[in-house]
Amino acid sequence: MTDKKVTLTLQNNASVELDVMQGTLGQDVVDVRTLGNHGLFTFDPGFTSTASCESKITFIDGDEGILLHRGFPISELATHSNYLEVCYILLNGEAPTQAQFEEFRTTVTRHTMIHEQITRLFHGFRRDSHPMAVMCGVTGALAAFYHDSLDVNIERHREIAAFRLLSKMPTMAAMCYKYSIGQPFVYPRNDLSYAGNFLHMMFATPCEEYKVNPVLERAMDRILILHADHEQNASTSTVRTAGSSGANPFACIAAGIASLWGPAHGGANEATLRMLEEISTVEHIPEFVKRAKDKNDSFRLMGFGHRVYKNYDPRATVMRDTCHEVLNELGMKDDLLEVAMELEHIALNDPYFIERKLYPNVDFYSGIILKAMGIPSSMFTVIFAMARTVGWIAHWKEMHDEGMKIARPRQLYTGYTERPFTSALKK
Ligand code: CMC
Repeated sequence: MTDKKVTLTLQNNASVELDVMQGTLGQDVVDVRTLGNHGLFTFDPGFTSTASCESKITFIDGDEGILLHRGFPISELATHSNYLEVCYILLNGEAPTQAQFEEFRTTVTRHTMIHEQITRLFHGFRRDSHPMAVMCGVTGALAAFYHDSLDVNIERHREIAAFRLLSKMPTMAAMCYKYSIGQPFVYPRNDLSYAGNFLHMMFATPCEEYKVNPVLERAMDRILILHADHEQNASTSTVRTAGSSGANPFACIAAGIASLWGPAHGGANEATLRMLEEISTVEHIPEFVKRAKDKNDSFRLMGFGHRVYKNYDPRATVMRDTCHEVLNELGMKDDLLEVAMELEHIALNDPYFIERKLYPNVDFYSGIILKAMGIPSSMFTVIFAMARTVGWIAHWKEMHDEGMKIARPRQLYTGYTERPFTSALKK
């Protein structure tokens, strides 16, 4: 709380004094909690001006293009850390010592297998199901298998559930893929890194040895780091909202996966690749840019724009470098990358995009990297979900640790006023 106050003058000339809260970084926040006592609510669909909670996990300055996890800049984490260390930082608030990290890693790797019965669950899905539909269902179903970590009021239960989710996500994500192509599931290998193990479960078969390419392993690790958390985005807010009722953690994360699936959120990487394929050659770009600017056309340049970043997304810069590293390693000259680079160039110089501060976001490049690795576009959002699970858990844990209130927004009702009911049905 600060000494600052905001005074609101009401219609009857009475006034309400509201406290102003100050964080360690970012804008001040007007505390409107007492407004209800004066018969008023605030109206803010889409939460464009509303802080829904206090949090110590991630800070974003969208105008400056800054992203910090527990105070550490994302570019430093992406360059000098690894995904599991970032997970530790997000969950615990501090960077781990070597001993703390080893213990954390051992615990994560010891939980990578899923209950064998869950493998049968996969067979209930159509082979051509979207893997996000399967991920959503299987993640929610974990609650039916791990009864010993469902009491959200017990800290130890919350901790076990957090490890289980973090450990099992890559296993389930790879199983979604294997199921869709009709190959046998590949069990996790605990001697590999988190990213390396995921690539192994995606691409190994019982017929021949699969060696993890270190450049691709590093690229996958970076993709995971860059998607690990992003403060109160739609899916994280969904997880908090679901969790605020005391729902079990597996159900909450399944809700997060459902929210992430939307094309305006995590589905954008898949949509970006589809768009680049549709554009297909540099000559077609002007036509698509024209459509994106046309108010009567619902088409948007996927991978451009962000609710918070009104500057270059700092994650996109790292992703762009990683994209080049991967394509060099694989000796690929990707036509889509050429289209992407030209599109980026044109859009960044076009007044429409400049005025609206629409820059490439993290998803603009991630799809090209994943495609080069041989991962089908339907799996892109699944990989995003796998990476973001730690962020969701960190926020869910923080909400429980700090004490929570059930999320219950109010509304501005614009429907009928009271009227008599007469049934038109035959009696
Ligand atoms: N292409 C063309 N015009 C756009 C785009 C775009 N990608 N994004 C925003 N605009 C325009 C929009 O038409 C509006 O113009 P005007 O002021 O003339 O009406 C203006 O920019 C502001 O748009 P908005 O929809 O009010 O902005 P928002 O903050 O609500 O939306 C967004 C953010 C990410 C949903 C939007 O930029 C978008 O749909 N982008 C494409 C999808 C995408 O790449 N999403 C991934 C986000 S990053 C990954 C993640 O965190 O999940």
